[in-house]
Amino acid sequence: MGRASRLMRLDAFTKTVEDARIRTSSGGIVTIFSVLVIFCLVIGEWNDYRKVSVISELIVDKTRGEQMEIHLNITFPHIPCELLTLDVMDVSGDLQPSVSHGIGKHRLDKSGGIIESKFLELHPEHPKHLDPSYCGECYGAVAPDTSKKAGCCQTCDDVREAYAAKGWAFGDGTGVHQCEEEGYKEMLKEQAGEGCRIDGHLWVNKVVGNFHIAPGKSFSNAQMHVHDLANYLQGDVHHDFTHTINALSFGPPLPTDLLHENHHQQNPLDATSKKTSDRNYNYLYFLKIVSTSYEHLDHGYTIHTHQYSVTSHERSLEGGKDDVHPGTVHARGGIPGIFFSYDISPMKVVNREIRTKSFSGFLTSICAIIGGTLTVAAALDRGLYEGARRIGKLHQR
Ligand SMILES: *[C@@H]1O[C@H](CO)[C@@H](O)[C@H](O)[C@H]1NC(C)=O
Repeated sequence: MGRASRLMRLDAFTKTVEDARIRTSSGGIVTIFSVLVIFCLVIGEWNDYRKVSVISELIVDKTRGEQMEIHLNITFPHIPCELLTLDVMDVSGDLQPSVSHGIGKHRLDKSGGIIESKFLELHPEHPKHLDPSYCGECYGAVAPDTSKKAGCCQTCDDVREAYAAKGWAFGDGTGVHQCEEEGYKEMLKEQAGEGCRIDGHLWVNKVVGNFHIAPGKSFSNAQMHVHDLANYLQGDVHHDFTHTINALSFGPPLPTDLLHENHHQQNPLDATSKKTSDRNYNYLYFLKIVSTSYEHLDHGYTIHTHQYSVTSHERSLEGGKDDVHPGTVHARGGIPGIFFSYDISPMKVVNREIRTKSFSGFLTSICAIIGGTLTVAAALDRGLYEGARRIGKLHQR
């Protein structure tokens, strides 16, 4: 036997002799129909193969010594920028009093329009005193480190800083030469009816901490943190801590489809408002921060960010206005302002985009679709053909 005939015996696909084949129009219809079915199923299978799904897992966050970005954007319609101070503190003892780098303060008029925007620097320039030998007096307080000239209070701001460090109330600067020259009192008066928006971002150590926005210059030592409230509580114009949090986030946003899928917002405090008409009012927000990462499949990059949950608490400070002795620093019963206290979760959510189907799986499915559809179609066609023949025979009789 030749090699060809040996192979022939192995043929599982025995062929029908051409003569025995006939074509019918019902067969044509079945063929077109099965091609359509195959086409639809293959498209469905292709979409399934291309589909990206996101799996989430929870792991222990083992990163160390990281920094975290805080992005904030808060509007205060009833307090001028001049009176607001932002302080950031963490448990590692890293205090960033009067944080200003990366933070903009925008003076707002009654209708919320911007009068002036200032991106504050840590050490602002004051070109006031041209005389190089000038050394301003600190009125008994100690000159701050930020002063342009060691041991001197060159500007009104320096004097205020020096007073705050002593824990003394500063007031409107009457009798302080630097402030009178700079027109500090007049500026306070002029801006008294304004609002303020604080926005921008800052970096903090990723440990438990808090940041707050409260009136006046602040001062901290081991036991306490006090603010000079004199200018806030005195004066004819009413100030309060009504505020709108336009945005508060700890890192870049997550992809929106992920958020929609989970039916939630990444940052629960975005676009929330609180109203009060009480001057001595204190808002507390307790945040639990969870590290979250998102690994993109296509671009190969990973977003590292944070989500948080929040509980809030608000109260009127006991004692109220009567308890405040004009000209003293008031820290009893708390400080009016808004306080954010945050805690870092030890767990981390990792979201990863994956393709659930492999390419070989896709090919297998395609073969199954084609084979299966053709088999069913062949059976159908045979049935139709036989049926037609029987009916034909009946008619002939
Ligand atoms: C802060 O929010 C206001 C109002 O939504 C917006 O106009 C402003 O651009 C925001 N600022 C930043 C730095 O995103």
